[in-house]
Amino acid sequence: MRKLIVAGNWKMNTSVAEGVELAKKVSDYVASKNLPAQKQVVIAPPFTHLAPIAQVINADKVILAAQDCAATTNGAYTGEVSASMLKGLGVKAVILGHSERRQYFKENSEILLKKIKLALAEGLDIIFCIGETKEQREAGANLYNNVIKAQLVDTVFTLTPEEFKKVIIAYEPVWAIGTGLTATPEQAQDIHAMIRKAIADNFGQAVADDTTILYGGSCKPSNAAEIFAKKDVDGGLIGGASLKADDFAKLIDAR
Ligand code: PGA
Repeated sequence: MRKLIVAGNWKMNTSVAEGVELAKKVSDYVASKNLPAQKQVVIAPPFTHLAPIAQVINADKVILAAQDCAATTNGAYTGEVSASMLKGLGVKAVILGHSERRQYFKENSEILLKKIKLALAEGLDIIFCIGETKEQREAGANLYNNVIKAQLVDTVFTLTPEEFKKVIIAYEPVWAIGTGLTATPEQAQDIHAMIRKAIADNFGQAVADDTTILYGGSCKPSNAAEIFAKKDVDGGLIGGASLKADDFAKLIDAR
């Protein structure tokens, strides 16, 4: 069954103490709601916060995710954190392919596929981000649709259907991330439908129907319900608004 997911990507924000506090509030809120099994709440704090947060959240209610993992297994890779280390902390999912990682850390499809494989080998779910830049959007639908498809073809479309079941797609137009500009509900729906069709062409309709496709990019309480109501939008990946417990609660309720 297709899951509905509201995921918070905290990026490099909050002190450990603030993060623990925020995670507790989110966990308490979700526990008070009795959400249907189909609906899931994910939080992705910074690496340094994962261990203490794993101690305070109700793991049956909130899924703990990391924002990245290494493209290699354990060894002499200074500064890196492997998928197996994350798993050992109680992490269940990892965000990969975020546009900030692609832009600032030069992560390309080849690197991302290595990360995906290692995360899958540890049994982690993948929240795989794709999306076009402002220039690509302005170059027209032909171009940006191809950009988005290529991001899938070179990575998650090379997986087996069984592996792909562990993948959640997050469509995040780069021009909408942290800018206050949001895709209109129609723009989001158009791309989500295109993505679902590409998944159907690659893996078959049943897999496509089961795939969760999130929207991300300046989602907030005032615009989320309209976007999340669209047929092929199965929730959101939330940056800025996931840092305030009250706003994140409203986003949880918006889908
Ligand atoms: P934003 O970030 O909600 O702050 O735009 C979304 C994301 O980058 O995942």
